[in-house]
Amino acid sequence: MTDQLEKKIELEISSFEKDLEAVKDLQELEKLKTRYIGKKSFLIKTLKNIGTLPDDIKPIAGKKSNSARNRIESGILQKEKYFKGIQYENKLKEEHIDLSLPGRMVRQGRKNIISQITEEIEEIFIGMGFEIAEGPEVETDYYNFEALNTPADHPARSLHDTFFISENTLLRTHTSPVQIRYMESHIPPLMIISSGKAYRKDYDVSHTPMFTQIEGLVIDKGINFGNLKWTLEILAHEVFGKERKVRFRPHYFPFTEPSVEVDVSCHICSGKGCRVCSGSGWLEILGSGMVDPNLYKYAGYDPEEVSGFAFGMGIERVCMLKYGIEDLRLFFENDLRFIEQF
Ligand code: PHE
Repeated sequence: MTDQLEKKIELEISSFEKDLEAVKDLQELEKLKTRYIGKKSFLIKTLKNIGTLPDDIKPIAGKKSNSARNRIESGILQKEKYFKGIQYENKLKEEHIDLSLPGRMVRQGRKNIISQITEEIEEIFIGMGFEIAEGPEVETDYYNFEALNTPADHPARSLHDTFFISENTLLRTHTSPVQIRYMESHIPPLMIISSGKAYRKDYDVSHTPMFTQIEGLVIDKGINFGNLKWTLEILAHEVFGKERKVRFRPHYFPFTEPSVEVDVSCHICSGKGCRVCSGSGWLEILGSGMVDPNLYKYAGYDPEEVSGFAFGMGIERVCMLKYGIEDLRLFFENDLRFIEQF
């Protein structure tokens, strides 16, 4: 009886060892485990029934079955470790990161030259105590023309080549409407600077349908032409250099009286005359003048009480003059070779 049982156990072990050899993965190993030491396996059943065996057989049968179970268990555990090791290595291989690969290039953007110059000019005026004001790009005829002393039949209107949206709505042709809007809602003293886009139907080397302007307005008691000159000289010197000469030329704008255009001596030829200044030695940089007292009636100010000056300049034009750029359209073509230079 013992011999028979012993033989059976030995057979079970050798069959297990053979099967274990052939196991290919963890799933198969799990099946093997059930077959040899699962609840219904020969060994476990034997162990369970040991109590029913005759007393002289019990100890030896118990010993043999237990050691067989231990062998099987340790065989399975070893294989399990082996398969888990392979699994882990495969996972590592899958997740492998090649640290020697070059990284992805991230291109860095920068501020467009128009924004740079706009901010530079704003800083100059903020330093003098000016405040920033804003106004809409879609304007009414009233703010763009009428309240700026340019009624419907005024000849100056034809200079503006306006984009009309409807009879009374348009794309502002300059930043000057901000003057009226600001005066309407504030009382003097006021010192403002306002930048933004303006639109005119025009397209050639020195005109684009959209461009950028910066506008200034100062109103207080006793503001005179001397204040205008001083302010704009500082502006010209800050932007183009302290050694530049500044000249004020009489001009005409419907909303300023008297009006002037401001020139700086050409920094490229130092006033001798070159391509950039068309041989004149001077570069026109802005329009300006004393606010026409007529405008005060739109704002509800008393022209006997207050006076002021205003000025407006094209930012692209300043860039062109500063850097010797010959075609205004370059600013809007988005050619990185141009944009990245600044
Ligand atoms: N708005 C004028 C233009 O676009 C410039 C200007 C502004 C002139 C303020 C005088 C005062 O040409």
